Amino acid sequence: MTSLAERARHLLNTNFYSEPNLPERVKKLRLDPPALGQYVLRCPILIPGKQMNIPDDLAWCENLVDESLRYQNDSVGVDQPFAYLTVRHGLVESRTDDEFHVDGFSTKVPHIPEQNYIWTDTCPTEYVAAALPVPHDFDPRRHNIQHFIQDSLPNDTRIEQLDAETVYAMDPYVPHRRPRVSQGTRRTFVRLSMTPIPIDDRNNHVNPAFGPITSEYDGVADFRDKLERYPVVR
Ligand SMILES: [Fe+2]
Repeated sequence: MTSLAERARHLLNTNFYSEPNLPERVKKLRLDPPALGQYVLRCPILIPGKQMNIPDDLAWCENLVDESLRYQNDSVGVDQPFAYLTVRHGLVESRTDDEFHVDGFSTKVPHIPEQNYIWTDTCPTEYVAAALPVPHDFDPRRHNIQHFIQDSLPNDTRIEQLDAETVYAMDPYVPHRRPRVSQGTRRTFVRLSMTPIPIDDRNNHVNPAFGPITSEYDGVADFRDKLERYPVVR
């Protein structure tokens, strides 16, 4: 089994799926989210040439950012030039997160993997420690890795759950999902993504300190939804 630090030193590739990869526990942490709901998708807080900037309405995430940066520096040992904050605080809405998936697997350009630091107040993230060898004719630029993971997980795979109110680090090699929750569930989820390349996506949140988004690119519509389902033979 490899560590986040070891995997961080290789270009993103499908070989690391042949062994189970685990989320790494960073720290138990209390956060104090606002009373009202808040939904923020990939707000940039770090870009090259600027001081880190956390907008005022995300100041309650500062401790998570600090602890994550400490872990990134001390345990992962890779400086990433970009960081983005995602918050889903309020009624559970998203419909795709409750399928097993990985975050940040994109091979459009060769790059080292990103690291994601996640925290939930309740209904913590589920994950699987499964070996999922990827066939040689699987082409990540053509085939959808998320569907491959869902289709190749053995039926008897044991589903593990993280602890609530705890920061964990993971990378694009750790399959995970939001647990299925009943309608009307309130949940707070925070993710800090530290990435080697910019995520230029028109759906990103605007950080006023860094100016408006100029990209027309839509990562879901322009790329993910065009990928094919690799035919997994069981
Ligand atoms: Fe995820």
